[in-house]
Amino acid sequence: MTSRRDGLSFGGDYNPEQWPNETHVDDVRLMAQVRVNLVTVGVFSWATLEPVPGTFEFDWLEAVLDRVHEGDIAVDLATGTASPPPWMVTLDPLSLPVDREGRRRWVGGRQAYCPSSPTWRLRSQRLAEQMASRFAQHPALALWHVGNEYGCNTPACYCDACGLEFRKWLIRRYGDIGALNEGWGTNFWSQRYSSFDDIHPPRITPDGTIPNPSQELDFRRFFSDHLLSAYVAERDILKRITPDVPVTTNFMAMSRFNRLDYWRWANEVDVVSNDHYPSSRPELADAELALCADVTRGLSRGAPWILMETAPSAVNWRSINRPRPAGQLRRHMVQHLGRGADAIMFFQWRASRAGAEKFHSAMLPHAGTDTRVFREVSELGQLLDDAGEISGSRVVAQAAMIWDWESWWSQEFGFLPTSELSYFRNAMDLHRTFTDQQITLDIIDSGTSFDAYPLVVVPSLCLMDVDVAQRLDAYVRGGGTLVVTYWSGVCDEHDRVWLGGYPGALRDTLGIWVEEFAPLERGQTVALSDGGTASVWSEFLHLRGAESRVEFTGGELDGVAAVARHEHGAGVAWYVATRLDPISLDRHLSDVLTDARLRPLLSCERGLEVTVRRGEHADYALVVNHGDAVREAHFAGFDLVTGRELRTPWSLAGGDVAVVRLEQRVDGREVDGPRQPDS
Ligand code: GLA
Ligand code: ZN
Repeated sequence: MTSRRDGLSFGGDYNPEQWPNETHVDDVRLMAQVRVNLVTVGVFSWATLEPVPGTFEFDWLEAVLDRVHEGDIAVDLATGTASPPPWMVTLDPLSLPVDREGRRRWVGGRQAYCPSSPTWRLRSQRLAEQMASRFAQHPALALWHVGNEYGCNTPACYCDACGLEFRKWLIRRYGDIGALNEGWGTNFWSQRYSSFDDIHPPRITPDGTIPNPSQELDFRRFFSDHLLSAYVAERDILKRITPDVPVTTNFMAMSRFNRLDYWRWANEVDVVSNDHYPSSRPELADAELALCADVTRGLSRGAPWILMETAPSAVNWRSINRPRPAGQLRRHMVQHLGRGADAIMFFQWRASRAGAEKFHSAMLPHAGTDTRVFREVSELGQLLDDAGEISGSRVVAQAAMIWDWESWWSQEFGFLPTSELSYFRNAMDLHRTFTDQQITLDIIDSGTSFDAYPLVVVPSLCLMDVDVAQRLDAYVRGGGTLVVTYWSGVCDEHDRVWLGGYPGALRDTLGIWVEEFAPLERGQTVALSDGGTASVWSEFLHLRGAESRVEFTGGELDGVAAVARHEHGAGVAWYVATRLDPISLDRHLSDVLTDARLRPLLSCERGLEVTVRRGEHADYALVVNHGDAVREAHFAGFDLVTGRELRTPWSLAGGDVAVVRLEQRVDGREVDGPRQPDS
């Protein structure tokens, strides 16, 4: 895809400017040894490429590209604009970003720029243009990498220049000030605006007061768009000079970052690439990865994507940085492949000697090649080579889950019934349960047609406009199965409450209405009538057409439904009004699958994570055994990893993986065609 070779891509960020020339020779030799075929170069090279304003030095970079090209390694070439050189602040102190409290954030770290700064805009675009002109014809150039992790370190800037851009954005969105007042509910606390000129970014407010959440929401939307415009400006330059070279920028679809609305960004890249670092909580790491990888494939609309960065072992930005447990790297990378990655890339190739990230793991550790990490990297290079024929194939998903960064944001402005709501955790609870049940979900945005899927899952979609509510209703009436959790459909797209009983946008679809929310204390659990337990959330729910599937028992909620099922038109809508314990959730979602007439594509023992990729000539099963026990699978094929013929049943040892070319195509929906519900 990105490498000029067929097969999967493998490599990482390569920062040769941190090393003398002799090391570069060694680098390419060792890269070839472990089968690296793609490297990202130049991400943080601006200060080296333009050491003084207007003077460009590209020869060193050309020598690097020549050398890796001789090693038959393709280059994902960064525009170098991720972090401006220190001279920029001398040139223009206003190019620095400003935080919510009005403080400038200084150089010495990275990404210290305000995206409204004309100096930064002009000079970053000039660098991109110079890079494109200089390297347009270089044979190593396979992909452009614009910037780096937009919004990672400067997720927002509250300076006056950004204030001006915010106002322009609001004028485009609302047209007139009356509409904005309506949307933001500004009659509350005397916030009514008579002119757009009076609006500012949501800077720090007096103690104890709550910033207007609708303003916060629009500022998040604006800033995501604003950074996107900076990306697009560079991309357009690259497209003009090298129209045939694909362009990407590395997203951060992961649990610890949410500041960009990647649905909007995804439309602007030629190939989706994502950075993903494993969760610090080992018990969640596999499930968190699976969800993030599916989100990434969703952004890519099903097309193969690039894992642009992960850590070969430890990171260095947590308080305690544990190395990856032995074997985890292999399992995790097969998970990524199973969910659609065609490239596995690391941060970074060679561990830095100096600087802030010197204790971050790398493919080539400080201790050199006689190390566990280098051996695991080398084995992974071999695995990717062996599994090369899966490249270009597409994951077969059976159901969909709606994903919405805006609803996630709206949970972060605080002052809600509880601070214990967690968008990501709630989505992961559901996703993980379906993964355990060996059902693969496509992650979709709420604007996607639901009709291709027999089941649509909706976790905590608090913000819901009329259109989405109506389409979900029509979907169920038309025969679809829907499962919705608490804290969905409560507010509109401006974060204003839908009236008449919660969740106003969906109560008819769900056949319920909620009189009052009753969040639980931290750590509190409530018993359920089926023996399970509930935590985090409960509500005084009334049935109006739906039947209760399980009730809270004891206390003031005694007998109130915690899960409800509503036959609505030709379909069924489920409502989950609390955080269920894993066993209860599993049981209820099994019933949901029955309603949707869904079962796993392949027969495998529980405990195996299984996904299917459909290629032109064959289907492939990617199987991961995360546990210690041996597990059985009941299908035949050829394991590309071990070269083993698999006759049914076969078994997979604890901690092991398999990439199986299936003897027979699976009986799933056509990846590109409309789905016919199984009957
Ligand atoms: C991010 C960045 C990299 C590096 C890694 C370290 O993903 O893009 O430059 O800082 O984090 O984990
Ligand atoms: Zn700014």
